[in-house]
Amino acid sequence: MKLSETPLINAATLHAGIQSLAAEISIAYSDTAFIMLTVLKGALHFSSDLQRALNPALDITSEFIRVRSYEGTESNSRAQILYKPENSFAHKHVLIIEDILDTGHTASVVQNYVANQKPASIRFCTLLDKPDRRLVPVHADFTGFTIDDHFVVGYGLDYNEQYRHLPEIYTLF
Ligand code: IMP
Ligand code: MG
Repeated sequence: MKLSETPLINAATLHAGIQSLAAEISIAYSDTAFIMLTVLKGALHFSSDLQRALNPALDITSEFIRVRSYEGTESNSRAQILYKPENSFAHKHVLIIEDILDTGHTASVVQNYVANQKPASIRFCTLLDKPDRRLVPVHADFTGFTIDDHFVVGYGLDYNEQYRHLPEIYTLF
């Protein structure tokens, strides 16, 4: 496996995409308190930058969930919840923050987990979307970038736990 020589999405493009997502989300929740539910580990870097780009006047609390669905470069349907959020989502507005929407398995596990607690609403925000790979229908309310079917790493995304620290997104091939 080898990294692409230049980033697929460089720092300036990432920054601009996140500013624009933050503007959309700030409008959508301008008068609604909500929970940002970050899906670990991949969405950590994205969520951290996104939260700091939001309107500071928003009413936000932060929760985390950890789901494992991937080994190597293959997703599978046996996604497990490895870490559960501390607080209930009952009657709350929940915005799920993901790094990438691929087959949709992980997103649907997280959505079902939240939906079972009878929240007031669920919306889904993903930095990246690979629509060609979808096996489970999942609708993203906020999407940063739509990409082709490449395996990508960096900015939180890993290959067997490596490369998360890279500040830009690279293709692995
Ligand atoms: P899904 O369950 O197939 O939709 O995959 C979603 C999860 O798989 C994401 O949260 C990522 O952690 C991981 N994933 C999917 N595609 C990639 C990729 O191209 N690079 C790194 N991780 C990926
Ligand atoms: Mg992830």
